[in-house]
Amino acid sequence: MIELRGITQTYPGPQGPVEALRGIDLHITPGEVFGIIGKSGAGKSSLVRVINLLNRPTAGQVIVDGKELTSLNDAQLRAARRDIGMVFQHFNLLSSRTVFDNVALPLELAGMGKTAIRERVNPLLELVGLAHLADRYPAQISGGQKQRVGIARALASRPKVLLSDEATSALDPETTRSILDLLRQVNRELGLTVVLITHQMQVIKQVADRVAVIEAGRIVEQGRVLDVFTRPRQAITKSLIDEILPQELPTSVLVHVRKLTRRLATTAPGHTGRLLRLSYSGDSAYQPILSQLVREFGVDMSILHGQVDEIQDETFGSLAVFASGQADRVRGAVAHLRAGGVEVEEVAVAV
Ligand SMILES: Nc1ncnc2c1ncn2[C@@H]1O[C@H](COP(=O)(O)OP(=O)(O)OP(=O)(O)O)[C@@H](O)[C@H]1O
Ligand SMILES: [Mg+2]
Repeated sequence: MIELRGITQTYPGPQGPVEALRGIDLHITPGEVFGIIGKSGAGKSSLVRVINLLNRPTAGQVIVDGKELTSLNDAQLRAARRDIGMVFQHFNLLSSRTVFDNVALPLELAGMGKTAIRERVNPLLELVGLAHLADRYPAQISGGQKQRVGIARALASRPKVLLSDEATSALDPETTRSILDLLRQVNRELGLTVVLITHQMQVIKQVADRVAVIEAGRIVEQGRVLDVFTRPRQAITKSLIDEILPQELPTSVLVHVRKLTRRLATTAPGHTGRLLRLSYSGDSAYQPILSQLVREFGVDMSILHGQVDEIQDETFGSLAVFASGQADRVRGAVAHLRAGGVEVEEVAVAV
């Protein structure tokens, strides 16, 4: 649905050119919610503005729904843009127009008649839950309601793609959730492809199917959200996930491991103890993995720390366990876990 090939974006700046995007290749498939996450200044807004050619890239091709936007003339581009709706962080509503008239604006600009506009706008206001506020002005509604107007307006021209640049950053967590639910709903009910830009992993976790991580103008990691959450490769990704799923073990766990290791040396000489971090997702989450290890390998397991969470109905979690027993049995247990789809990381602890 959206294809970016070799996109670079260079802005002129007082201290010389700023390379905001440095060779972006991206493929977004029809009907998915695709999240793009990165820290401030990473190039997120530059990237999303390139997709509808609000910014013309310095180099590269933008193809949306089979049309190469970068090769269209102005009139063709205006027509193609009707397929691409956009919602903004600060809503960008016109304060002198009512809720209804804000949603109607793109249709008026496209020359649609009054009756047709009413027939288009009223169901949209129903969809976003604002039918009862149609006659209010932006100053008379809340931030979450303003964003609902922004979404309805973006949907007015019946786009195939919806771009969202930090649409929930100005909202509190509960309102954020309700707006993200609405984006999910329009994605499912209207079959819309949604591209969501954010700096919050929480947003990605709640609605995205796939995610790309952008750092200094480059995509450094991408994949299914669940996969990226359970197996982040890049330091930047880990630090972004850390916000909702701390990646470091608390010091108290390490202190405890030292104690257990010392005790092992006196009570069971010849046995090894290992601190393992287990990450699992999907099916393996439901398997009684630990009891199996104790039973079949005769390895002792102390659970020291753990977290379980859910991404779009799939469970994933991480556990820190201290596994102790005869060295070959501990090794066997680790191999068994890995064979069962559990990520196992051995954490070295200086005693
Ligand atoms: N019009 C511009 N002229 C010059 N430099 C720009 C312009 N727009 C953005 N930049 C620079 O390009 C880089 C990427 O900016 P961009 O706005 O895309 O980042 P972002 O990821 O959206 O950040 P934020 O999370 O703060 O919104 C930054 O270094 C920024 O200063
Ligand atoms: Mg931005």
